[in-house]
Order: sequence, then C-alpha cells, then structure tokens
Amino acid sequence: MFARLISTGGYLPEKIVTNDDLAKKIDTTHEKIVELSGIHSRHIAGDQENTITMAVQAAQQAIQSSDIDPDEIDLVLIATCTPERKMPSVACDVQRILGLKRGIPAFDLNAACSGFIYGTVLADQFIRAQTARCVLVVGSDKMSEVIDWSDRSTCILFGDGAGAAIFKADSQPGILSTYLGGDGQYADLLYTAPQPDKPGQETLQMSGREVFKNATKTLERLVDDVLLPVGLCRDDIDWLIPHQANLRIIRMTAKLLNLPMERVISTIEHHANTSAASIPLALDFACRRGQIKLGEHILLEAFGAGFTWGSVVLQY
Ligand code: UT7
Repeated sequence: MFARLISTGGYLPEKIVTNDDLAKKIDTTHEKIVELSGIHSRHIAGDQENTITMAVQAAQQAIQSSDIDPDEIDLVLIATCTPERKMPSVACDVQRILGLKRGIPAFDLNAACSGFIYGTVLADQFIRAQTARCVLVVGSDKMSEVIDWSDRSTCILFGDGAGAAIFKADSQPGILSTYLGGDGQYADLLYTAPQPDKPGQETLQMSGREVFKNATKTLERLVDDVLLPVGLCRDDIDWLIPHQANLRIIRMTAKLLNLPMERVISTIEHHANTSAASIPLALDFACRRGQIKLGEHILLEAFGAGFTWGSVVLQY
C-alpha cells in the first residue's frame, strides 16, 4: 500500500513586497539581497489574512484539482509555526470552514520550515498503517507576523503563503522513502522570542551563518538518509523540490545530487522563505505547469528551526 500524491494547491497573498520596497525602510539594496539569498520579492498577507484563511484557500484548490469527494478526506494535518490562535488548531478550523467530514482526526504540527515534510511523513505512516485512506496535508505560515521589520538580516528572507497536497492510499507507487530528524540542542540559533516593547508579540531571531552551515552539513547526508536505504541512487531522481530558504543552499543541494538547476524547482525568487508552505507551494507550482511527468521521481527536502530536517522521495 502506497501513499500517492493525487493533487496539490497553493495560495499566495495578493500584496507583493519587492526588495526595492524594503530598501526604502532599511539599509539594504536589491542587489545585496539577491546576492545573499536569491530573493527578489515576497508575498505578504493582508490584515484580513492569516494562517487559517491561507490554508483554506490552498486546501480548497487541492480538493478542486482532484477527483475525490471531499468526504473521502479522513485526516487533516496542518503544518504551521504561526497559528492564528493557540487553540483550536488551524486543522479544526480548516475542517469546519471547508465542511469536511465531521469526526475525522484533525491536528496541527510544528516543525517550523520542515513542517510539510513532517506532515507528509505522517500521512504516509497513517496510510501505510491503514488508519487513513485520504489525507489532506497543508503547510501554512504567516511569517510576516513574527518578523522584526527593522532587522535587515532576517526581514529580507521571509514571505507568507500556504500550500496543500492530498495523499491517497493506492496500490501504485507513491511515497517510496522518508527520513525525519531533529536536534533541540540548536534551538538558540533560530527561534522566536517575546518583544519587551510589544506585549504578546514574538519576533524571529536567527544566527544566519550558523544555520546556513548546519543546513548544508545536514543536506550532505541526504543521499545516505533517504535514497540508499531503499536502493535508490542520485541518478534515479528526476526533480528536486527543496525548502526555499536560500538560493545558495538550493544550488549546493542540486550539485550534491548531480542535478542541473533545470531539474530543481526554485520559487525562492518570488516567494522567499514561506516556512512550512515553501515546499508544497513549489510542488504546486511545478505540478500546475505540467513540469513533472507521471512516473518521475521527486525528492523533497527541508531544514528548519529546532533544528528539524527531513526528506521524502515519491513517484509522481
Ligand atoms: O528556513 C530555515 C532555515 N534558514 C536558513 O537556512 C537560512 C540560513 N542562512 C542564510 O541563508 C544566510 O546565512 C543569510 C542569507 C541569512 C545571510 O547570508 P551570509 O552569507 O551568512 O551573510 P552574513 O550574515 O555573514 O552577512 C554578510 C554581509 C555582512 O556585512 P559585512 O560584515 O560583510 O560588512 C552583513 O552585515 O552582508 C551584510 N548584510 C546585509 N547587507 C545588506 C546582511 N544582511 C544584509 C542586508 N542588506 N539585508
């Protein structure tokens, strides 16, 4: 029994903030931001938009793009580190707003930028254990809410959005291999902390260079972690869909896999880092353009706060 990807959806807020827009407020330039990260612009949620509304839009698109009856969905997993409220979960809100079947399990998980990978691995486990047959996995983050817009080392990097995928039990190959990791020893390199002058608000703090080094070190193990255990090698991978944190990291990962950049789905230029939404948004982008053909192998990978990391190989 396999968990097969049957459809995807995505949502990006209408408002676009360019590097030049940021340069009017902080000491930076378009060229420097591109040099550091590859980012040109990002989408930022409007006042009425939040993790719930974005997740609903992305999930709705995934459902509409599939041939399933929404009543078939028997598990809702939402990956987010910026939930609109502490409870109930975004997943329960999405279940209610979309009128999904009552009584099915629905919950959020927080693995920061690795959240969608964690959610996908859970979907795979539920389907293989035959405790679910049709799982909606959404990554939704409103990073603009936790950004210190006066900190040029972090505010240039992030954006808002949501991406969704539906996995269904199938005898035909779908997810072939998964790997998850976490190490809380590195919590102080990327975290949110309360702001003394803004009660109730937390802002993101990052030791960028250290995170960069750890991310690339972890990604060096990708082949050993997720390909070799199931008898796959670099040459079996047709597409890389990486977490969109930094174009330099994406290029290094492509090199590691011997993949030309034409085989890498990179949306960082216009999406920036949307945390848990980054991979499903890139996946949706590629699927909608018809880039990925039936039967091709896709490698998804992420690294984020925690640290957390993970990867998934699936046959499309
Ligand atoms: O999604 C979760 C995982 N996150 C990541 O994987 C992010 C990992 N980190 C990174 O992507 C990179 O470390 C950054 C993009 C955050 C920074 O790149 P870096 O190559 O590590 O640069 P740096 O922080 O060492 O800064 C290089 C220079 C510094 O100036 P000096 O000291 O060389 O004069 C910074 O002050 O760039 C300067 N700088 C900027 N200049 C203009 C840093 N940010 C900016 C900016 N505009 N926005």
